[in-house]
Amino acid sequence: MGHIKKTETLHIMVKKHYTKPRREWSRHEKHGGMEWITSIYLLDRYLPKRGLILDAGGGPGRYTIELAKKGHKIILLDPSQSHLDFADRMIKKNKLEKRVIKIVNGKIEDLSVFKKETFDAVICLGGPLSHVMSKKLREKAASELIRVAKRGAPIFVSVMNRLAIIRGELVDFQNELLTTYFRNWLKTGDYFGGYGFTPMHGFMPEELKNLFERRGAKNCKLFALEGFSSREDKAMLELSKNKRRWKVWIKTHFAIIDRLEVIGVSDHFMLICNK
Ligand SMILES: C[S@@+](CC[C@H](N)C(=O)[O-])C[C@H]1O[C@@H](n2cnc3c(N)ncnc32)[C@H](O)[C@@H]1O
Repeated sequence: MGHIKKTETLHIMVKKHYTKPRREWSRHEKHGGMEWITSIYLLDRYLPKRGLILDAGGGPGRYTIELAKKGHKIILLDPSQSHLDFADRMIKKNKLEKRVIKIVNGKIEDLSVFKKETFDAVICLGGPLSHVMSKKLREKAASELIRVAKRGAPIFVSVMNRLAIIRGELVDFQNELLTTYFRNWLKTGDYFGGYGFTPMHGFMPEELKNLFERRGAKNCKLFALEGFSSREDKAMLELSKNKRRWKVWIKTHFAIIDRLEVIGVSDHFMLICNK
C-alpha cells in the first residue's frame, strides 16, 4: 500500500503532522538534549562569525532564535504555518525582529524565492530532508540548498539514520517488525506513516554524503548527533544529575562524533560541507 501512495499524499501527511509547534520546540529535550547540544557545538565551530543564514525547515525556530541571540542574521523557512506563527511570537518575545529579517512559508525543494548565492550559511536541521519522500525531490532539495549558498559557505544538513531506526524498532516498536514497511526498510529507507510517526526517509551516511558531493559540495564531513546517547533517555536523565560525570560524557561524545561506528548508531547525523 505504502509504495503506491503518491508523493503529494505523503507530503500532505507530513504537513498535517507538523501542526504542534510546542511539541517540536521541546523535541530537543529527548535523549538528554544531545541532538541539540551537538548541533549547537558544530554550528559554533563551523558557522562564520557573521552573515546571513537560511534556517531551512526551521519549524518553530529554535535554532533561528538561538543563532539570532548570538548575533547572526537569519531567514526562517518552513511549510508549516503554525510553526512559523509560533516562531514569530517567540522572535517578538525575545526582541529579535532586527536579526530574524524574514519568515517564509516554503519548502526546501523549491527555494526559488531566493537568488543564487544569497546566504553566508545554510542550515537544514532535524530532518526536513528526511520528510521529502521522493528521491528526485531530495536531489532537487540538495541542489537548492547548495544553489542559495554563497561560494565557500558552509551547509549543515541533519537527517534520520536508517540503521539506528532498526534499534528503535527493537526498543520501542516491536509491533512494526512484521509490517511491509519494515520488510523493505533496509533497502529503501522509506516509511509511509501509519504507525505513530509521519512519512520519512531514513538515510544511510554515505547516501547523504553522495547526494551533496555529486552536486559539487566540498569538504563533506559527517557527525553523529546523539551518538551512544540515542534512545537512552533514562540513563541520560540519571547522568544529568551528576555534573562531573555529565561533563566527562559530553567531552567523550564530542571526541568521537566523527567516528563511523558512532555515526552508525546515532538517531540523527549531520553532514557539513562547503559550496
Ligand atoms: C522535526 S522538525 C525540525 C524543526 C527544526 N529544524 C529543529 O530541528 O528544531 C521538521 C521540520 O521540517 C519541516 N518540513 C517538512 N517537510 C519539509 C520540506 N519539504 N521543506 C522544508 N521543511 C519541511 C516541518 O514542517 C518541520 O517544521
